[in-house]
Amino acid sequence: MLTDNLGRTVSYLRLSVTDRCNLRCVYCVTKDFTFIPHPEILRYEEMLTLIDIAARLNISKLRLTGGEPFARKGFISFISRIMNSHPEMDLRITTNGTLVEPYVQELAKLGVKRLNISLDTLDEQKFSEITGRHKLDDVLGTIDACLKAGIKLKINAVAMKGMNDSELPDFINFARENPVDVRFIEFMPMGEDTRWSENSFWSAKDILGEARTHCNLIPVARTVENKGPARMYNIEGGKGRIGLISPVSSHFCGTCNRLRITSDGKLRTCLFSDRVYNLRGILRNPRLGPETILRVIRMANMDKPLGYNLLESKERSQGVCGTQMSAIGG
Ligand code: 5AD
Ligand code: SF4
Repeated sequence: MLTDNLGRTVSYLRLSVTDRCNLRCVYCVTKDFTFIPHPEILRYEEMLTLIDIAARLNISKLRLTGGEPFARKGFISFISRIMNSHPEMDLRITTNGTLVEPYVQELAKLGVKRLNISLDTLDEQKFSEITGRHKLDDVLGTIDACLKAGIKLKINAVAMKGMNDSELPDFINFARENPVDVRFIEFMPMGEDTRWSENSFWSAKDILGEARTHCNLIPVARTVENKGPARMYNIEGGKGRIGLISPVSSHFCGTCNRLRITSDGKLRTCLFSDRVYNLRGILRNPRLGPETILRVIRMANMDKPLGYNLLESKERSQGVCGTQMSAIGG
């Protein structure tokens, strides 16, 4: 078991397969963003070694993230290799949904049961303002194809005042008509020149209050299946659900069960802390093996901070860490 000094146990790994992305979302990509040089990005073989180690540490849930994971060549066969060597692993993927539609049948055949799709607006014009690209139809095509193929969907929208707050009724309708979870994530001040401001912050509490003026929301009880940071609500008379994730306004750091590894092989124990552990260096050192990596992960995890304290200690508009989200993977 992987436990830390505060008694928290890790059971969930988020692995970023690339920091590259075909979109340029305003809250994710900072002004002078740079990509990690190719030689520093882990090869799939190296990622598989890390996944083997994670499984030995009793990690039972794996989320592949980006940048945009489907933008990396060979991603589908990487999924297939993970499924073959770790059929017991609960594998999830977070994607912007723009490149996925052609692969939906294949994903379903491989046994991928769930996808998280980042979608902040249902309006074509706004989509291009937020992401810098005209690709809303591609995302909607993916959603449709996934629902037909029986892949369960969570739609994640970063909640931004002045950007997508006016679309709350449209999102509620979307969740009413489709069997999907639409989850609003509070905008976090990530990266050095973050676009975050008090004016753009739309709190989970306010979203819930406004949503209740449009529909009747029934809280979903916390169960094994619903134990993550999202508070979920059924929409009366609807097929889907609405969820709220509040990393800024309320702390769930006390029950955090996750670790992150970036595409260049840096272990990040907390989203908000720039303290990283270079696993790539160990992976590529012929004199060191998996046992060293195992030991480093254990030691690093011991000191996992309470991210909320880091957030509190900063001037929000400055950004809580120096790394842009596209390099961390959400
Ligand atoms: N605040 C909140 N969520 C963010 N994401 C990216 N940047 C931010 C931010 N600053 C979300 C994306 C995606 C996930 C990977 O992280 O929308 O859903
Ligand atoms: Fe790409 Fe996701 Fe960042 Fe948008 S939020 S630029 S889709 S990595």
